[in-house]
This record gives sequence, structure tokens and C-alpha cells, in this order.
Amino acid sequence: MQFPDGFAWGTATASYQIEGALDEGGRAPSIWDTFSHTPGAIETGDTGDVADDHYHRYAEDVELMADLGVGWYRFSLAWPRLIPHGTGAINEQGLDFYSRLIDALLDKGIQPWVTLYHWDLPQALQDQGGWPERDTAQRFADYAVAVHERLHDRVKHWTTLNEPWVSAFLGHAVGVHAPGIKDGEAALRSAHHLMLGHGLAIDAMRAQAGADEQFGVTLNLHPADPATDDPADVDAARRVDGLANRIFLDPLLRGGYPRDVLEDVSAITDASYIQDGDEAQIAVQPDFVGINYYFRTPVRKGEKARSELSPWPGQGDVETVSRGLPQTEMGWEIDPSGLYDIITRVAREYPGPDLYVTENGAAFADVKGDDGQVHDPQRIEYLDAHFRAAHRAIEDGAPLRGYFVWSLMDNFEWAFGFTKRFGLIHVDYETLERTPKDSARWFAETTRANGRP
Ligand code: FCB
Repeated sequence: MQFPDGFAWGTATASYQIEGALDEGGRAPSIWDTFSHTPGAIETGDTGDVADDHYHRYAEDVELMADLGVGWYRFSLAWPRLIPHGTGAINEQGLDFYSRLIDALLDKGIQPWVTLYHWDLPQALQDQGGWPERDTAQRFADYAVAVHERLHDRVKHWTTLNEPWVSAFLGHAVGVHAPGIKDGEAALRSAHHLMLGHGLAIDAMRAQAGADEQFGVTLNLHPADPATDDPADVDAARRVDGLANRIFLDPLLRGGYPRDVLEDVSAITDASYIQDGDEAQIAVQPDFVGINYYFRTPVRKGEKARSELSPWPGQGDVETVSRGLPQTEMGWEIDPSGLYDIITRVAREYPGPDLYVTENGAAFADVKGDDGQVHDPQRIEYLDAHFRAAHRAIEDGAPLRGYFVWSLMDNFEWAFGFTKRFGLIHVDYETLERTPKDSARWFAETTRANGRP
């Protein structure tokens, strides 16, 4: 299994999951601070207050990353560090932190890949309505262009949003993520304003960018398969595909929302939040699309009413189905063929942009052994199988240019707190000591050989 020359190997993280240092360097609260401190919101009561303390330990983390032999690091900027209250001037202390991180990376020959929004909206903007409000899209573009102006001398890859589906739908339809709202129409408005913000931000950044810069977005995509060939199940799968994949891919790469999706949500919204010109704005051509893949979603039509709470707004009658496959600690079924299917589908049905796997990885119940090491053969097996699926997609012609493992190190796994360990590097949350797992050494071999024997 040999990957093409220049294939970008990397690891990924996100600001709130690793940084800690919440009230340092002029940072203001984000919706995730508020949410994680809300009793009952996080299963374990954990918060990101300290997390991996990456804010103070970034230099050590960059050293560890260099040992992985990776050429790339995908991380997110915390908007509440950079423009703490959502609007106004850049907070120089916040900028300085990222500037030092970027220099440390470049010093090790690691290219920084920035995500502008990985879910930590400044609380001040939430107080003004958050993503359901149209104005937030413009605030996002203003933030993007201000930060880009100061960092694009060294950062050449810019991702606007990480997984707008998750911010919009888990945050606003079922409320298991910040800001914890349960309102299908607010979720749909949020999805639209996120993507509008994406389009506005790309245009504004490109206007001041050099020719060597690339802009795009990361979507969490997954095949939605009908559990049986019963037409009701087939239709449930169509609806989930619509509200998980096509609701983002079509405006982005085909110029507008799919008609069937708008019909599927017509009971909960008249979609008047989509204004003239918005679809053209969202359709500004991206250089790349990042795909985050973790699982397939087999579904069937169940007995509940469509109006019940659902992560696919307005589709409360749809149920996910287990196929009895082995699962990760997240309860996600392991199915590498889903990665092959989604990459080749995007390549076929939405040709144009380069593709990257911007996240893939697995949580297992890792423990440090008596030998002081973390042996995680399951993660190695998981990654090997997914790398092979991606490789097969490349052989079949998909323009896949790189692969980022989630995650560099164990971190705050959102609603699950610190219980789910996704890292190549183990973090002891008492001492904050970092220990590379067996998978880290295996991954280093893979990146150095650009494949596996
Ligand atoms: C993705 C998120 C990432 C991480 C992984 C496990 O949805 O983008 O932050 O939590 O899931």
C-alpha cells in the first residue's frame, strides 16, 4: 500500500478539546464553556477548563508531533481568544499564542492547517442569537478575514468550518452539544447561516490571499443506507442522506439546496431564511473539501411521529439500526468500506475540489500497562483498515490528497468528557503527562514509508 508522492499525512485537534487556559491571554467565554458548566450537559461533569493544557504545553506537543513523522497539523483557532466578544479588534495576546504555535510547527517542518471554527462560538454572539441569527454569518466572515490577514504569511490551508452538521443539528435540533437548543427550525437556520458564513469568509480571504493558498470546508459525511429494501426504509435513507450529506454538498458544489430536502423539512420551516443570492454565495468554489468519517448510518422508518426530536430536523420517524459489527468505545460500528464509499461518491457526484480525510480515528479503552506503555492494537487495526479503504479510493481515481488522524492526543470529547480516548498519544489527566501509544509508533512508520509494506 503505497500512497502518491506528496500525500499529506497529519493529525488533527480542536481548540476547546485541548487548550485549557480559559481565562488567560484575554480569552472570553465560548458557548462550550457555558455548556460544559451546565449541570447534566456533559455525562461526566468534565469541562475543557484545563483539558490537555496545550496552551502552556504546545512546544512539547509539537515535539511529539515531529516524532510522528507527519508533515501536517490540522488545528482550530479559538474565536473567543482572537476576537473575544465576537466583534471588534483582534486580541493580540490570542494572536500571539497561535503565532508561536505556527512558528514552532514550521520550525519542525510541519505545515499548519487552520480550521477557523470548530464549535467554540464566542458566548457574546450566542447572547445576540448565535447561528440561528443571520448576522452571525457576517461576524464569522469578519473574524476570518481579520485573522487570515495576520497569519496567511505562514498558513496556506484554511478550513472555514468543521462539521457544520454537528454545530447546527447536534447543537440546535437535539441540544446534546452547545448551545443546547432543541428546535428543528433553529437548526436549519443555523446550518444555512454557517454555510453562508463559509462562503462570505472564503470570498473575503481570497481577496487578500496569495496564489499558493487553499480554502475549503470540512463536512462529516457518511453513507446512509436503508436497513431493508422496503420502500419506507429506502425513503428514510433518502431523507437522512439529504439532511446529513446533500444539504451541505449541493449548495456548496451544485449551486443550491436539493428540492427534496426542502420538501422534507417543509412542515417545520418555510425556509424564508434563504435569501436571494445566498445560494450563489455558498457556492463559491472551494479548493478542497475535507471529509470526516467515523461510521455509516443504516436507517429504517420507525413508529414515532416525524415531529419528534431528531438530529435530522423533521424526521423523527427515522431510526438508526445496528448491524452487529464490532464497535469502538463510542458505540460506533467499525466499517472502513463506508470511507471508500463516501470518498468515491463525492469524487463522482461532486467533482472539482481536492479531497482530504480531515478526520478519522477511533476511541478505545486504553490503559497504561505496568511497563508504562499503552498497547492499542485495536487502534492500529482500525487505522490500517481505513488507510487501505482510502488507498483503494485513490486507485479508483478519487483526488484524495491527504489524511489526518483524529487525534494527536486524548482530549475532551465533547458531551462524553474525558472518557473517550481518541489519541495516538495518551494523556494522563491527573499529571497531564503525555505517552505515545503503540499506534503512534505504527503511524510514524506509516507516514515515513508513505504507506505500509
Ligand atoms: C468529530 C469532531 C471531533 C471529534 C471527533 C471524534 O465529530 O469534529 O472534534 O470529537 O468527532
